[in-house]
Amino acid sequence: MTGTFKPLVFSGVQPTGNLHLGNYLGAIRKFVALQQDNDCIYCVVDLHAITAQLVHDDMRSQIRSIAAAFIASGIDPRKHIVFNQSAVPQHAELAWVFNCVARIGWMERMTQFKDKAGGRNAEQVSLGLLAYPSLMAADILVYRATHVPVGDDQKQHLELARDIAQKFNIDFKEHIRATGKGIDIVVGEEPVHAYFPMIEPLIGGPAPRVMSLRDGTKKMSKSDASDLSRINLLDDADTVAKKIRKAKTDPDALPSEVEGLKGRPEADNLVGIYAALADKTKADVLADFGGRQFSVFKPALVELAVEVLAPVGAEMRRLLGDTSHIDAILRDGGERARARAEVTMNEVRDIVGFLR
Ligand code: TYM
Repeated sequence: MTGTFKPLVFSGVQPTGNLHLGNYLGAIRKFVALQQDNDCIYCVVDLHAITAQLVHDDMRSQIRSIAAAFIASGIDPRKHIVFNQSAVPQHAELAWVFNCVARIGWMERMTQFKDKAGGRNAEQVSLGLLAYPSLMAADILVYRATHVPVGDDQKQHLELARDIAQKFNIDFKEHIRATGKGIDIVVGEEPVHAYFPMIEPLIGGPAPRVMSLRDGTKKMSKSDASDLSRINLLDDADTVAKKIRKAKTDPDALPSEVEGLKGRPEADNLVGIYAALADKTKADVLADFGGRQFSVFKPALVELAVEVLAPVGAEMRRLLGDTSHIDAILRDGGERARARAEVTMNEVRDIVGFLR
């Protein structure tokens, strides 16, 4: 008899640099929507933050700032779990097991790794940066989570996490049976006796990949040298207005159909941003603005962006004014996450055959 895993949503955000509109629309806004009908765990992934750069002088304030963004955006930390990764050592413990399940070649093929390590000597990047997707798989699977809302740039990492789960299920097939903790599921056409679920990435929506405001072919990113390329969650209304006013566009009016956005990356990006902020589709937005010039569309986008983002920024500032409140939320979330992760780890220790 085949069964299904209990649905559980997990996602994480790194405490490195300012949160921007890409993080908000690609991830955090989806986290908020999903909490209505699902059990959710949202994590500030501080262990990931030391993979690219080891020493951070403001790590604690960055961690609090991401937690504040989650809560200011509307995540309920009492009904769900909000915590920082290092508070739950089981993530790192499962990642070690996964390091021994995954193959080095899988890691070396990751585009993000190649982008960061490429052209440079291998001595220049940490072993942690190479193993990063294995920790990411552990983050999710230590709760046996089934659904993961992320932006498009994390798709490849989630495919790798599925490969790790699948290889673990196959390698330990007999041991999983012996513990009686597995479930018969179907992967593709194949029946599999699984301990870990096949993660489903949740990537859709009108803005799965928010692009730079200066170059519609480049991803909006924390590390872009130009602050004009991104809208930060803590930007004030004047700054948001200035950045949208200066955003690169082309000389044509907006098309009336989504088809017409092809080959117009900047127009496509701004329409996608508008749609995501308004909880509409791009087709809805073009039904309203098709045939209009950017001189009409941009002020409407400024108004909408400020209306949505200003309350989030204001609430973040208020929450960060009293760190004891944020710290108490993270402590409580960490305790609840640890208890759940320990259930999985005990079963994994039994499956692998460690003596406890
Ligand atoms: P991070 O911290 O780089 O980004 C956090 C989330 O924001 C999304 N995102 C974007 N979405 C749309 N457009 C953009 N320009 C954009 N930039 C960033 C990311 O896709 C992500 O969803 N490895 C992850 C964190 C992580 C994680 C996990 C996520 C660690 N463990 C387990 C899910 C499950 C990362 O570095 O995200």
